Amino acid sequence: MEELKKYLESQKDRSLEELIRFLKIPSISADSNYKESVREACNWLSGRLEEIGIQTVKIYETDGHPIVYGELIIDKSYPTVLFYGHYDVQPPDPMDLWDSEPFAPVVKKTKLHPEGAVFARGACDDKGQLYMHVKAVEALIENNSLQCNVKFLYEGEEEVGSENLDQFCMEYKDMLSSDVILISDTSILSNDTPTITTGLRGLSYVEVEVTGPNKDLHSGVYGGAVANPINILSSMIASLQDENGKVTIPGFYDDVEIVSDKERELMNEAPFDLEQYKADLGIKEVKGEKGFTTFERTSIRPTLDVNGIWGGYTGEGAKTVLPSKAFAKISMRLVPFQDPDKITALFKNHFEKIAPEYVSVKVKPHHGGRPAVTPIDSEEYAAAEAAMEASFGKKPIPMRSGGSIPIVAMFKEVLETDSILMGFGLDSDSIHSPNEHYGLFNFFTGIETIAGFLNNLSKQ
Ligand code: BES
Ligand code: MN
Ligand code: MN
Repeated sequence: MEELKKYLESQKDRSLEELIRFLKIPSISADSNYKESVREACNWLSGRLEEIGIQTVKIYETDGHPIVYGELIIDKSYPTVLFYGHYDVQPPDPMDLWDSEPFAPVVKKTKLHPEGAVFARGACDDKGQLYMHVKAVEALIENNSLQCNVKFLYEGEEEVGSENLDQFCMEYKDMLSSDVILISDTSILSNDTPTITTGLRGLSYVEVEVTGPNKDLHSGVYGGAVANPINILSSMIASLQDENGKVTIPGFYDDVEIVSDKERELMNEAPFDLEQYKADLGIKEVKGEKGFTTFERTSIRPTLDVNGIWGGYTGEGAKTVLPSKAFAKISMRLVPFQDPDKITALFKNHFEKIAPEYVSVKVKPHHGGRPAVTPIDSEEYAAAEAAMEASFGKKPIPMRSGGSIPIVAMFKEVLETDSILMGFGLDSDSIHSPNEHYGLFNFFTGIETIAGFLNNLSKQ
């Protein structure tokens, strides 16, 4: 490991330069104007895999964005690791809140990243993180010390629901077989409190449309006599949560996993500074489901949030209008053992039921995903834990996360393989927000940890 550390140290500048090159490609999967850029990112990544010495690298076309897959099988008796990540990124807007251009990466120091962080869309989610896999494997190959078979599966549609990856996994089940899947697309609690993510929430996502009159009306001539769909939608949404922060949809909590008091106690032992949390977010108070801590509210409890709401006139100045329609996009984060399809159906029934007679409503489901929990009593977890302990100097704490990576449940179901969620971002790295960044410490320590993980696996 000493040799390897020296090598990694000597490669730092080059690794960062390559990451910056990758981050310059605006691979926004949600925006069809960027279709070619998404492909460019895929091609670039595939080229890098070839350059580090991965035997077979192939780009697979899908109905959406392409998948890049590569494998290096050294010896059938060695353990096999499948790396998964996504090279697509979220749209960068709102643009005016960025301090630098989202696709012109810059390195700047911050309070939490005194060694510097690279600022760009995708820096942490997930280009900077998946690229750690590539660099770790490259380093082991260069040092003639890779003693694992490695497979790489990188998709360009994670941020839009991984719609074609399910099919791909079913079709190429044998090709994708492995002992463990390593995913770096999550966070650690802080740079001196390493954590390994052991659970992800699921997701149910719907779009609602409320229609009142058959056209936009003058809000003076008709206002007061005709129901305003925006007003109605607002009160319907408000009624979806009660004064204790509980979701009011009947049956919503029926399948929610009851986490033992013991486990809740353990999860709340992790260091957490509520005052700092509030200060960082610029809020005076936190708000959530009564009877649960902030950690619990963002990991073991389900939620309902409006992600966007629109209708009527939102342009410059004041136009007096009583709109015909109002819309909202609503997400529900789910926990084990809630089923996204069931929750979506419960939402639809309830929303249609509470709609007053003077409007009509439509509920359109979007992509969803199942929650996932990963074991902590496996050899692979032990290998990850030991690797983190070696590079951070502290044993990592197992923690559930609030985010979603729907493919993790799919991997378990279709490939019958557990994932290790060893990500290195910080929750404060602004993923999906303006000024997304990824700490250089996190990037380099991540590479070292992943290399250590592969070494530990091969010794087991
Ligand atoms: N990497 C995130 C998920 C994540 C972030 C997990 C932080 C744990 C900590 C992923 O790219 C993501 O954004 N997922 C989406 C879901 C998807 C269906 C669009 C999410 O969680 O909103
Ligand atoms: Mn991600
Ligand atoms: Mn994301």
